[in-house]
Amino acid sequence: MTNTLIDSSPSATTQPKQTPTILMCRPEHFTVSYRINPWMHPEDPTDTSLALKQWTVLYETYRDLGFTIKLIDPIPGLPDMVYAANGGFVLDGIAYGAKFHYPERQPEGPAYMEWFAANGYEVAEPEETNEGEGDFLLVGDVILAASGFRSDTSSHQEIARVYNRDVISLQLVNPSFYHLDTALAVIDSDTIAYLPSAFDEASLEILRTRYPDAIIATEEDAAILGLNSFSDGHNVVIAEKAVTFARDLRERGYNPIGVDLSELLLGGGGVKCCTLELRSS
Ligand code: ARG
Repeated sequence: MTNTLIDSSPSATTQPKQTPTILMCRPEHFTVSYRINPWMHPEDPTDTSLALKQWTVLYETYRDLGFTIKLIDPIPGLPDMVYAANGGFVLDGIAYGAKFHYPERQPEGPAYMEWFAANGYEVAEPEETNEGEGDFLLVGDVILAASGFRSDTSSHQEIARVYNRDVISLQLVNPSFYHLDTALAVIDSDTIAYLPSAFDEASLEILRTRYPDAIIATEEDAAILGLNSFSDGHNVVIAEKAVTFARDLRERGYNPIGVDLSELLLGGGGVKCCTLELRSS
């Protein structure tokens, strides 16, 4: 099922998975009022209307790709709520809730869990600190799980119990790539892209062994959160400035679609951060 409006390329060899259902949050209250990652500079101004405008382009891109998009109401005083990926992890109709590391974001955990419960998901309340799809990424049947800056390794065991799936623990080492989804992108059920310097040696060994054909990102692309992308298995929505990543994707038959989320980058987030996948199975 190729979206002919977006990609009419007859040579497309890759196939989208089932059309995704995702959760997003309008950045109505977006600003940078605290600093919990190196990208954030509360002393610099932010433009909430520009953030909304750029976010709307992302929303419309997903809509044009045929995605089903659900929205959670933004809450005043929670400027990072736009980064819906951190709101939890949803698989098999079960939402494993987030328990944020920093107090500034902690109220988001219950807010997202309320949304999940109200929308028919079984909620698994977390005991361990974890930041949802920021640090947990599903690749095929396996969950890649990171720690180092936000999620505790104890949450890796917790998520393994919730879903009864294999969980592979990875260790992040660069504070600029503080969530797994800033350092690693899932392209399809067996293809990933990643930035080697964001991981410790043991994690790199695992990644090289499991994914010998992975796309290796450049420091330049990663430095604008180019890896923070969302793929339906064929169309890959990425930061428009991530030109090498776009070229590599195109060469392998995927369809990269660039968007500009420069304002949301001021909070340390990009495409994927604004996108939480809701998987019913
Ligand atoms: N300011 C947010 C934080 O530091 C950005 C979160 C980005 N989200 C993500 N999935 N990487 O928590």
